[in-house]
Amino acid sequence: MKLTSILTVAAALCALTVNAAPETHSTKDIHLSSTDPSTPSVNAKAKVKPKPKPTKPSKANDPCAIIAKQAKSPGASLSYSAVKGCYEAHKFRKDIADKVLTSVENVLGNFYAFVDQARDPYLNNGRDSPKPGSSSVFKTPPVDLMKELAKMRTTKYKNDYEFQMALTFLTLSVNDGHLTYRDSCYDTVSFGQPLILYAPVVNNKQSVRVFYADTSKEAKLPANTPKDLVDCAVTDIDGVPALEAIQTFTDKYSALSKDPGVRLNDALGSVSWNENWGIYPGGFARRWALPAKATMDYTLQCGASKKPVTITVPWRITPSDSFEHSIFDDTKSYWEVQCIANANAHSVFNNKAQRNNINNKGAVNGVAALGGDKEEVAPATEAFRRRGKIEIAAPPRRSNGKPADDSSEVITRAKQVFSTGTTAYYQLTGSNKDKCVAVISNEYAGDFRFQNEDYVNFFKGLQMLRDRGCKKLILDMTNNGGGSVDFAYFVNKVFFPEEDAFFVQDLPSSTMVQEVAKIASAKKYKGDDGSAFDARRYVSLATKRSFKDATMFTKGTIAKRGGKTVSLSQRNYHEHSWPFLPLKGKNALTWKPKDMAIVTNGYCGSACTMIATRFNIVHGVKTYAVGGIQHRDLSYFTFPGGFVLNNAAIVSDLDALKFKPRGKDAARRPVNLPIAADTRLTVGEIYAFANSTVPLEYDAQYFAATVHLDQDLVSARHPDQTWLKIAKDF
Ligand SMILES: *[C@@H]1O[C@H](CO)[C@@H](O)[C@H](O)[C@H]1NC(C)=O
Repeated sequence: MKLTSILTVAAALCALTVNAAPETHSTKDIHLSSTDPSTPSVNAKAKVKPKPKPTKPSKANDPCAIIAKQAKSPGASLSYSAVKGCYEAHKFRKDIADKVLTSVENVLGNFYAFVDQARDPYLNNGRDSPKPGSSSVFKTPPVDLMKELAKMRTTKYKNDYEFQMALTFLTLSVNDGHLTYRDSCYDTVSFGQPLILYAPVVNNKQSVRVFYADTSKEAKLPANTPKDLVDCAVTDIDGVPALEAIQTFTDKYSALSKDPGVRLNDALGSVSWNENWGIYPGGFARRWALPAKATMDYTLQCGASKKPVTITVPWRITPSDSFEHSIFDDTKSYWEVQCIANANAHSVFNNKAQRNNINNKGAVNGVAALGGDKEEVAPATEAFRRRGKIEIAAPPRRSNGKPADDSSEVITRAKQVFSTGTTAYYQLTGSNKDKCVAVISNEYAGDFRFQNEDYVNFFKGLQMLRDRGCKKLILDMTNNGGGSVDFAYFVNKVFFPEEDAFFVQDLPSSTMVQEVAKIASAKKYKGDDGSAFDARRYVSLATKRSFKDATMFTKGTIAKRGGKTVSLSQRNYHEHSWPFLPLKGKNALTWKPKDMAIVTNGYCGSACTMIATRFNIVHGVKTYAVGGIQHRDLSYFTFPGGFVLNNAAIVSDLDALKFKPRGKDAARRPVNLPIAADTRLTVGEIYAFANSTVPLEYDAQYFAATVHLDQDLVSARHPDQTWLKIAKDF
């Protein structure tokens, strides 16, 4: 979570009331009004955390007391049994579970855009509209969220942890990167393995191999570990064929895509650029959830002549960013500090962030820049970021400044010409000098009205490539988790000045949403205030003007979704305009669709899809997807969704509107979660074309890349080798 600054203060405040019994400690007791959520994090952090009042000495065998103590040593390493014990120490509370389920049911039932599509077996396996001549890339179970939530009410759980995880995995099973339910209580610890794996195709056969190995002392590799681990084949993991073990894991934990090939990529190591080149470890080796046991067994085959060897490697368990050091000291205070204490802080913070967001940009898709540290991130993007990045050390240099060993340099066949916060610009070398690459790592750009470098420098870099004689251009959007919708639209307009840059969308418009919209669209707002359901913030597709009243919601359309008839808003889009466009005369760009190509590893999510799909689906730019499952088509983009809101933002929006539904809707109004947890959901449906009937999220025909490239030993570490393969195709 990017909420640490506020959470720290909240927890500190709460620590003063640690003596209260958990049963009486309702979230209302944690009063946060003294904390201005807009306070920059530096200030919040500078505040001294008050020490909890001395409580009775903790029992030596209290598992949460053990992890509190273990976390105090530098380079803290926590023990598996204590973490497991602490997570499982909190008893299942039916009263809390019922409130959590009501909150999740109410927000998903009324506001989640894909609640009905998620149930549909045909849509989820892409059988309603497969791409002509190929099968669909989707493989994801149909999920009846409302039915499963109802079932959870009567299920007996061993403890709170089991209940919370069941709910999290239910939301993840939809495989929508914008949808999650996550409980901060069980998000305090990270689990890491020193071996990072990948699955290249060698001699026409895909196999799992070691991509990177941490052989430091902390890694605790056993004595029988082979010396040179890199590129050793991993035949089995915990006794299961390695590829199968990883696929089974990622199908449950990733939720990045409806395409299992993209989920496989998400589990594995990859190299990509984001300010610099780094190794992203993947979800298999960096986990947020408690692994099934304390160690993992790898059966390794290092060289064909060697005997296979099985090594047992412990998980390295460390406190995560949400671990409140020195504030809890036993199971009871852990519950108060990590599980319920920041419930309110969460909503206050997100509410404020969300409001600014809606006000500034009108849309959040992936990550919306709000200035400073306020942002709303797609859950899949956040999970990816939290795994961290392994910096690739620069190769040793000779006295003349040239690298002594070219092979450790990531990019050797291209020269970096320029870079911005979002994008690096490369020109290929040698006979490929007329071919260039823009590596777009995210759409996290500053608001152009206040801070326009990201916008202006984006086309400046392209103009530099053009002026260096680049006739062909590759956009590399590997590991691009989104950003601001406005920036994505902007990129479309830079390249295709004659065409509409926006994406058409609609929003679910149940009777409740319509009632909210009537109030929101008539209210006068002060300052930064605003509502996501104020129709005046949306532009009508029909009239190309902003709505003047709630008719966007109240005079919408009827459509079939997952076999059910539902009400949708009128089609609309987010407002946009940029003072620097169109580029004219000598500033104009000259690449035509046939001169361009897009390459990703399938993880081009959210706002990234608004660029990639526009280039391909509308303009016919060829797409390449790298990695995935051999002999199976691979998506070049994922979770286009619409825009993302969280439960707290919706609740505070309704609170600010003083919204009180009548009749049977009264019991269905979204409410805050009673614990420190967060539900995030897709609120709008975007479409590939203004006249499409299936939202892009489920329009399976468009997902497969034109070309599927297998990952190989060299290009996995040197993306410019993939650029060369594409350059040959022009
Ligand atoms: C939908 O719009 C696209 C682009 O404007 C057009 O090419 C296509 O023919 C339209 N399809 C239908 C069914 O009208």
